[in-house]
Amino acid sequence: MDTPSRRNVLMAGGTLGAVGALSVASPAQAAPLWTWSPKGSVAGAGAGADPRGVWDPEADTLVASLIDRGAVPQVNRLLRTWTKNGQALPSGLPADLRAFMERARQLPSWADQGKLATAVDFNEKRGLYLGVTYGFASGMMSTMIPREARAVYYSKGGADMRDRITKTAKLGYDIGTSNAYDPNGEMIVTCVKTRLAHAGVRHLLPKSPYWSKVADEAIPISQADMMVTWHSLPTTVMQNLVKWKVPIPANESTAFLHSWQVCAHMLGIKDEYIPNSWDQANSQAKQVLDPILAATPEGIKLADMLLNMATIIPGGPLRYITKPILGSLTRYVLGDEIANSLKIRREPLWDGVFETLWEPFVLVREGLLSLEKAPGALQKFYWAFDEILRLAALLVLSGGDLPISIEIPDANNPD
Ligand code: HEM
Repeated sequence: MDTPSRRNVLMAGGTLGAVGALSVASPAQAAPLWTWSPKGSVAGAGAGADPRGVWDPEADTLVASLIDRGAVPQVNRLLRTWTKNGQALPSGLPADLRAFMERARQLPSWADQGKLATAVDFNEKRGLYLGVTYGFASGMMSTMIPREARAVYYSKGGADMRDRITKTAKLGYDIGTSNAYDPNGEMIVTCVKTRLAHAGVRHLLPKSPYWSKVADEAIPISQADMMVTWHSLPTTVMQNLVKWKVPIPANESTAFLHSWQVCAHMLGIKDEYIPNSWDQANSQAKQVLDPILAATPEGIKLADMLLNMATIIPGGPLRYITKPILGSLTRYVLGDEIANSLKIRREPLWDGVFETLWEPFVLVREGLLSLEKAPGALQKFYWAFDEILRLAALLVLSGGDLPISIEIPDANNPD
């Protein structure tokens, strides 16, 4: 039996601490009650409707109709040419879709250009750590979110995981670019297309016999599900950076949160569910993310595919960073319980290396500790850690290298 490590116990204040005894998720497992108050949201108030029963009605009705009238292949073809936030929508789009997209591409009234600019500075300064945490905290955690793992596995994209991972990485890449939400950036386009893709999934997945057999909800991707996945991204990333003692000025931390609040809005999440501060985000995550983390057969397979990253990074320099090293990194970031549930093998050398040397490595990199004063073994492994930072950055950056277009699905995964 595994004894929880001191680090895991220390994480009790964060997202993962409340995971408790992780089990394999059963189809009947319900989402936890939603009692989080809209007073803590960016809207400051709201109807307080339980988001487990709220989806994205306008987008959902529209995309269902596009799918049913056979318009999706043509729409996807046209939308491939729509890549920049400030670009006019392509001509030839169905009128109802065009009208919706014109509205959906508007930033919320509360978007703060000053904060978005500060977020750019933060992303530039901390890009390397963000790559590691998006990839190995958020990415691997997503395989432990049962509803997401099942939806990903049985939807169209599940048939080609490499393609899916690069498409998803595009959002992580776009939000970190210097012009993310500017007219010549791509984040708004990525969000609007993702919103449409999610609406497609809501229409299609309930028709999948495979998904229906294991699902615990009639329609996937509710607003509550969206927030769960959202927390696996910025909330989890920030919790890790704080744990590693990466110095982050308060205004940059707030700005990073703001860029993700805007992202949530652009993905169709209602303002009354979007937390207005890190405290609110942490408390919401504790309620909705922590209790649901569990392994599923689908998630275990997805985690294994993710660890085989060597095959998904075009031309990635993976001579030294092997699957066992990435497995140990995942164990370090997400803890023993999650790693064991995902059937990630123990690696006697590398597990210990991450446990004892990663935090000193960050301190040395940040100039907060001299290499001479760091544990002696760090000198031996510094290169590997540096290589990992670069690899993870490359993974996120690969989302920017390819002509990726997020598309509305018109079918489920046939397998
Ligand atoms: C598609 C991001 C929430 C299930 C995508 C894509 C992105 C994305 C960028 C496009 C990539 C692609 O087409 O493969 C996000 C973000 C979320 C979120 C940032 C929350 C903040 C969720 C949730 C679920 C989900 C909660 C399910 C429970 C899916 C599925 C697709 C998809 C199944 C693929 C559609 C296909 O098969 O083509 N998401 N997602 N997503 N998302 Fe999400």
